[in-house]
Amino acid sequence: MVEPVGPRVLAFESSCDELAVAVLEPDGHTLGASVVHSQIDLHARYGGVVPEIASRDHVRRLDDVLDTALEQSGQTLETVDAFAVTQGPGLVGCLLCGLEYVKGLAVGLGRPLVGVHHLEAHLAAADLEEVMPELPYVALLVSGGHTHLIRVEQRGGPHALIGATRDDAAGEAFDKTAKLLGLGYPGGVAIDRLAAEGDAGRFPFPAPMPGKDNLDFSFSGLKTAAQRQLRDLGGALEGQDLADFCAGFQRTIVDNLLKKSFRACRREGLSRLVLAGGVAANSELRERALERGRREQVEVFLPSRKFCTDNAAMVARAGWLRWMAGARDTLDLAARPSWPIAERR
Ligand code: KG4
Ligand code: ZN
Repeated sequence: MVEPVGPRVLAFESSCDELAVAVLEPDGHTLGASVVHSQIDLHARYGGVVPEIASRDHVRRLDDVLDTALEQSGQTLETVDAFAVTQGPGLVGCLLCGLEYVKGLAVGLGRPLVGVHHLEAHLAAADLEEVMPELPYVALLVSGGHTHLIRVEQRGGPHALIGATRDDAAGEAFDKTAKLLGLGYPGGVAIDRLAAEGDAGRFPFPAPMPGKDNLDFSFSGLKTAAQRQLRDLGGALEGQDLADFCAGFQRTIVDNLLKKSFRACRREGLSRLVLAGGVAANSELRERALERGRREQVEVFLPSRKFCTDNAAMVARAGWLRWMAGARDTLDLAARPSWPIAERR
């Protein structure tokens, strides 16, 4: 698909514990650079993200991460046409770091700036692959804070929210259960790795919201079931027991995500499904989505793992789309810590 030529975008992502900068070329598709600085080491000992520590580290590293991205792309601040920055949702202090920094650049260089919705950016990640998904499609957006099913008619929105979690997000369930298991933070990747060695049938978990013929999710019950089961097993697992527990837990989440996603495709009369967000990096989810897609004649699009978890390439693409739609923001651009991506339908 050839799109019109737009601006070369320099984008910033700082909504949580990753600081990322990317350069997207004027074709809206070719990446000049995508640099991600992760803070895992800083937060690991606390078992989760400490907002104040996260924002302080962003401030410290912004110059360096920007320099690395510019160097990798062979560009300078003068050869960039527009700035994009994550405006929300996210941790307010973290968002402010990126926002205020970009405002300084925009004023100093006299270039336009566009604010980007973090979840819109996750959706845009699929466009960075060689073949972009055709429209319309159903998107399963699964991150640390959100579990959404979205009908996407148009890149950049507006969208229709057709399903959402009623309590915890899938990523949250992974992270909290990983913490209980002593796997540290971030937990999703650790469970993914251990589950690959485990027998998913050994510790079965109750299916979330059984008998509910809807497109919503609920993962808090599963988290409690894991807690109870772990206590009954003596409180600490290791070796094969730990791997089997992780496999059973992950299997239950993936079963549920796939069941609702394919149901959404049928209900919407669509045969394209796009996965997005950090949990879309999960090995079992990726493999089984492709497999089921082949069986049910649904084309499944998976952004590469590095574009599923937080990064600025996706922010650049979402910013490019907004810019092409005529959006220009001003220095009044404010952080939006909570910000729905779409109206519930
Ligand atoms: O999109 P993301 O990087 O940040 C948010 O916007 O929240 O998603 C982070 C979430 C975390 O809950 C993390 O544990 C989960 O994505 N995650 C995974 C995997 N990689 C990241 N969950 C399961 N399997 C993975 N391989
Ligand atoms: Zn994210």
